[in-house]
Amino acid sequence: MRKKIAAGNWKMNKTCTETKEFFNEFKGKIANSDKEVIFFLPSLNLPCGKETLADSFMNVGCQNIHFENSGAYTGEVSADMLLDLGIENVLIGHSERREYFGETDQDVNKKTLKALEKNLKPMICVGETLSQREEGITTDLLRLQTKIALKDVSEKDMANVVIAYEPIWAIGTGKTATAAEADKACGDIRCVIGELYGKTVAENTRILYGGSVSPANASELFAMENIDGGLVGGASLKMDFIEVINA
Ligand code: PGA
Repeated sequence: MRKKIAAGNWKMNKTCTETKEFFNEFKGKIANSDKEVIFFLPSLNLPCGKETLADSFMNVGCQNIHFENSGAYTGEVSADMLLDLGIENVLIGHSERREYFGETDQDVNKKTLKALEKNLKPMICVGETLSQREEGITTDLLRLQTKIALKDVSEKDMANVVIAYEPIWAIGTGKTATAAEADKACGDIRCVIGELYGKTVAENTRILYGGSVSPANASELFAMENIDGGLVGGASLKMDFIEVINA
């Protein structure tokens, strides 16, 4: 059985003070869950977020790392910086980073390899634009993005990899893929993992759906065979994210 994940992607939201206030209230409302819960925070807020959640079952992660160990990369965060703070989880290749910061599939692969080398757990984002979906190339694109992201990743390291399928047209738009569309895409990704690593790894790898997940649609999405939880933006900034976790 794959343990489901409810992950929040806070993007560039909440100050440290707001983060502490939110988590103090949130952890008072949810003592435990059958899901793994991770909040991906702005890097500056990781220490205060981690400290505030220390006495809960929930965890924090970073929204990005650089693929080099250190050096002249203004504004970037290294894997060692996260390790030093005791952070385990890192989001890689979110579509906003691909779009605004020019991250390529090859960068996503290098970041994934760096994260795994440092024993971090990468959650790798893939997903198609609306025009790619309309052109009927969603499956081809997801296959390509997944294959490049996982290039040179060992079978053993796959135990620490999570994939998040996020159709770009569904992010922050209120438009969700139907449960069937999302399940098909997650199933296609599972199929590629099976081709690369075999059936057992494919069956054990967690694949999430993201894109306008809310308390209203989470139950239906999370009930699908190939969907092992959600990567949630806007709805994870509110107290009713608890309903998504409980979905
Ligand atoms: P959304 O964002 O839930 O606000 O659509 C999801 C994401 O970007 O990870």
